[in-house]
Amino acid sequence: MAIYDIVKYPAAILRKKAKAVKDISGYQRDLLDSMVETMYNDEVTVGLAAQQVNLDIRLIVIDARDKVGLIKLINPVIKRVEGELVSMEEGCMSLPGITVSVFRSPKVVVEAKNERGQLIEIETEGFLARVLQHEIDHLNGKLIIDYLSLVKKALFSINYKLKRKLS
Ligand code: NI
Repeated sequence: MAIYDIVKYPAAILRKKAKAVKDISGYQRDLLDSMVETMYNDEVTVGLAAQQVNLDIRLIVIDARDKVGLIKLINPVIKRVEGELVSMEEGCMSLPGITVSVFRSPKVVVEAKNERGQLIEIETEGFLARVLQHEIDHLNGKLIIDYLSLVKKALFSINYKLKRKLS
């Protein structure tokens, strides 16, 4: 296992639609374990998508610090969402120092494969539903800043570039 460096915005890989995983072997399980180690290496992080550690494949790991605990998913897909959108401030390891208020569905049904290659379905609500949507967004090249209005997004982009120049 290894702790990976986190890829930061505006790296191109964060904007790619990640490739589906075809075979699930020891290699993919090792990648997932290293992603888990990387996630736990940061106290506040509750989820990580493979692009954030520079892997262009559809893997996510989540631990929303709830009774469900650690989840490792391969090729996750949102099958259904339910309920009126709820807003909450979200952060992202790839966008340090920024939070964005994001409207998301309170309930989701996600289909994925587990580490053993079995098809599983997760039906959940609340915070875990939100984290699942955030991480699956990553696999589709979508980031929290995409939920900003156009004006706010333009301001963000100017400020972010300035900060990077200064640091
Ligand atoms: Ni993120």
